[in-house]
Amino acid sequence: MRLTDQEKAMLDGAAGPAKQRAMDLLVRYGEALGAERLIPVSNVAGTWNASSPALRPFAEKGMDAVFSKFNLDADDVVETPQAEVYTCQLIHGIDTRNVEVTGANPELALRQQKAEKYFGARGVQMFNTCTPYQVGNVPVRGEHCAWMESSAVVYCNAVLGARTNTEGRESAGAASITGRIPDWGLHRAENRLGTHQVEVRVNVDSMMDWGLLGYYVGEVVQDGIPVLDGIHHTPNMMKLKHFGAAASSSGGVEMYHIPGVTPEAESVAEALGGGPPEEAIRYGVEERREAYEWLNSSASSTNVDFIMLGCPHASIEQIWIAARLLDGKRIHENVNLWLFTPRALTDTAELNGYTAIIRKAGGHVLSDTCPAIGRILPQGTKVVATDSAKQAHYLPAIMGVETWFGGVEDCIDAALTGRWRGPIL
Ligand code: F3S
Repeated sequence: MRLTDQEKAMLDGAAGPAKQRAMDLLVRYGEALGAERLIPVSNVAGTWNASSPALRPFAEKGMDAVFSKFNLDADDVVETPQAEVYTCQLIHGIDTRNVEVTGANPELALRQQKAEKYFGARGVQMFNTCTPYQVGNVPVRGEHCAWMESSAVVYCNAVLGARTNTEGRESAGAASITGRIPDWGLHRAENRLGTHQVEVRVNVDSMMDWGLLGYYVGEVVQDGIPVLDGIHHTPNMMKLKHFGAAASSSGGVEMYHIPGVTPEAESVAEALGGGPPEEAIRYGVEERREAYEWLNSSASSTNVDFIMLGCPHASIEQIWIAARLLDGKRIHENVNLWLFTPRALTDTAELNGYTAIIRKAGGHVLSDTCPAIGRILPQGTKVVATDSAKQAHYLPAIMGVETWFGGVEDCIDAALTGRWRGPIL
């Protein structure tokens, strides 16, 4: 790998031990991938949390020990330096302000607060969300980034036109303090072209429609780059958020094109680079039904006891929608409802009275975590309903619960009645 003089100096230790270990990690990582050089990155989204029980032996030795082991893959303990480039904390395992609601371990919550203070003082912006693009981290087209979290990565590439591969905790940690990442994958223009043409033959408009389409497409293309043809309703941010999260759950989609909507292609031909697709796929009524059946395959009991909204973390528009559906109503006594949103949006939700409406109905607005990441559910949960294809994909496997997927209206109906009636497809 060719290194600049500045990179060689960092590797030789001239910028201190943490940057030396970070450069060593990035060079090994880049060489394993066949990258010929490192490139500058100006935006990192990763995790510096300490809330996982697995981190305990390291957290007891202090936050530098956590950083050295889990953000640099170093065998010794080095001091955590300031972030070199704009860096933020993604979602983690605990909503430290609502441990009594979620039943989280208070000791882990305290440790997490310590981590937030420690790494926050070193330049890690504590957004605590899987949707940093909703709360002030919006890289521009062509900007090289180092992001973790599949739903954020696909949004960063496809919707914003910024460039990132799916990084790990260690490579994001190393990128944050060096401002470098290996030049490979989606950082290179030639790897951003479409591979699969998806002919969409059904109306795709609601958030549920976008979740179903994403789930089907991800399952079929796996880590390919789909190009959607036949979209007649321009999707907004919450719909694209759901589409990408679904496609990166059933498959490994990190990039897609919707010509005329996403920024890197005005036409299908441009999205495909002027050549034919590797494969053409059709998405019609049958395929939509198939995606719905895959997503609901874990569920049989219609007695729902938990409603999960806000995966990926809800936009203020989604909180507003949920509040309007719940206004003046009362959630069934056997049902819990949790809605997850970035912490920074909870102020607006409070100010607009949405939190009060949801609380009065019997639900909770939470932040910083989600059931799949935090491994948290209300006690005794057996049957979940959610408007998120991603959550419906993961919860049965991770938490062993039955999970229904549908629209937000179906989920609120289940919250009020305790019964899953589901959508009319
Ligand atoms: Fe975010 Fe958790 Fe969903 S990380 S995308 S809310 S599974």
